[in-house]
Amino acid sequence: MKIVVAGKGGVGKTTVSGTISRALARAGHDVLALDADTNPMLGVSLGVGPEETDLLVAVRQGLETGETEHERSTEGFVERFGRDAPDGVRLVVASRIERANPGCMCCGVSPEGLLTELDSAGKIIIGDLEAGIGTVMRLQEGHADIVLVVAQPTAKSLTIARRAVELTDDRGGRVIVVANRVRNDDDLAVIREAVGDCEMVVVPDEPAIALADREGRAAIDVDPDAPGVRVLIELADRLAGMAVAA
Ligand SMILES: Nc1ncnc2c1ncn2[C@@H]1O[C@H](COP(=O)(O)OP(=O)(O)OP(=O)(O)O)[C@@H](O)[C@H]1O
Ligand SMILES: [Mg+2]
Repeated sequence: MKIVVAGKGGVGKTTVSGTISRALARAGHDVLALDADTNPMLGVSLGVGPEETDLLVAVRQGLETGETEHERSTEGFVERFGRDAPDGVRLVVASRIERANPGCMCCGVSPEGLLTELDSAGKIIIGDLEAGIGTVMRLQEGHADIVLVVAQPTAKSLTIARRAVELTDDRGGRVIVVANRVRNDDDLAVIREAVGDCEMVVVPDEPAIALADREGRAAIDVDPDAPGVRVLIELADRLAGMAVAA
């Protein structure tokens, strides 16, 4: 099963991606976490730490200086540009290298292209997408089984969330809205009004998530029982159920 996480900049996509990846892996699933952001931070939310996350990015950048060998296969791509994260998650940085080397897949491959290439049989692939609507617009059939649209109760975030929901609906894709940093009923009402009656999970404004970010750790390591983290673990359970049903 392929899941992508989309939404406006800063709404919580990486937090959601990292936490559900860890929760799914903890529940025994084979998880490939794909960092599709050109400013890759998923490693931090997965609990790999900021230094190790920077190292992964450096390997990718090594292509430009010739320090890293080019890669032709998707399996090799995951091997060469990935590393193991806690609970057995495999993390791979997918950001496109602009100076493409024709004939090799590690340069110039778009996150959408990679989502098509990667075989999700028996595993769950979670793609943390770049901010904005562009990535969702480029998604085609087969790229993602489920689109998680992260939204906060702000006008700009909701404009993007509404568009992402509409685009996914138009393609016949399944969408779940993650209403994030919800502090009260008014916050929830404003999100509900923007996205209509689609499936939704509600994540409160969570001090443990903010603390995790300050410390460069995974929220699930800081406090798996914090209400905001629990909601994301429950979302992972639900997604796992869908993977089994698929
Ligand atoms: N439920 C929450 N409660 C408190 N803080 C949160 C919550 N969700 C996210 N945050 C904080 O919001 C900030 C942005 O989160 P995150 O990096 O996950 O967003 P993003 O959508 O991936 O951002 P970008 O578009 O830059 O990639 C972080 O500091 C994170 O800790
Ligand atoms: Mg992010």
